Amino acid sequence: MHSSATSIRTRPLASMRRTSMHRPAHPIPSPAMPRYERKDHLHQRAKKEGLRSRAAYKLEEIQKQFSLLSKGDRVADLGCWPGGWLEVASRLVGPGGRVAGIDLAEVDPPIAAPNVTALVGDLEDAETGARLLEALGGAPADVVLSDAAPKLTGVRERDRANEERLLEAIEALLPRLLRPGGSFAIKILEGPEAQQIDRRLRTAFAKAKTVKLASTRKGSTERYLVARDYRGGEG
Ligand SMILES: C[S@@+](CC[C@H](N)C(=O)[O-])C[C@H]1O[C@@H](n2cnc3c(N)ncnc32)[C@H](O)[C@@H]1O
Repeated sequence: MHSSATSIRTRPLASMRRTSMHRPAHPIPSPAMPRYERKDHLHQRAKKEGLRSRAAYKLEEIQKQFSLLSKGDRVADLGCWPGGWLEVASRLVGPGGRVAGIDLAEVDPPIAAPNVTALVGDLEDAETGARLLEALGGAPADVVLSDAAPKLTGVRERDRANEERLLEAIEALLPRLLRPGGSFAIKILEGPEAQQIDRRLRTAFAKAKTVKLASTRKGSTERYLVARDYRGGEG
């Protein structure tokens, strides 16, 4: 369950060399896979630089704009396979920080950094919050990241309903998982239901901004809501 190795990666993103883009070791199909198989410019670059996913560039871009992650932070990464964000977050929080990710698919090969734990699980499961908290050492996260996206079926109503359920599950995790004052970044796909949740999420933070990233594929409906200063939801 816990992925660990002997050294923490502190090298810049481009120097995290790997031999190939990674695929999950178990048979749960990931909605991300078809996207990664499209050979666009960033996909090719990620492959060349040995990164686990082109998605790594998105967290780099968010960090460049918002400086969300700091040394020593505890970070939860929701929908973390194949681990591109885990590696970036691991480097940004450093040896004094902790990163706990979860996905339906197993992160394999494991992240070679002792400050990262990658769990296999469903964000919609009742025990997910407790598992992530435990992996973070019992204290809530300073930053919650979500790049999670449901597997697309091609049936628009169903895809929207799945996205809505996923966003609601993530929204429900926040009061327990994110400390008051903490930061949040979440991918939101366009759609009326998602926009309602987007509006609700904004009210839970003192500051919030929606951004379309340069590293997002052309034609994609994804946006990222980046929010700071969580008002806290337990009381
Ligand atoms: C775009 S990928 C994430 C890429 C990742 N940020 C990276 O840098 O490698 C989206 C992920 O969300 C995951 N996901 C979708 N629904 C989920 C759920 N209910 N529970 C856990 N993970 C989920 C998918 O399995 C998929 O791997």
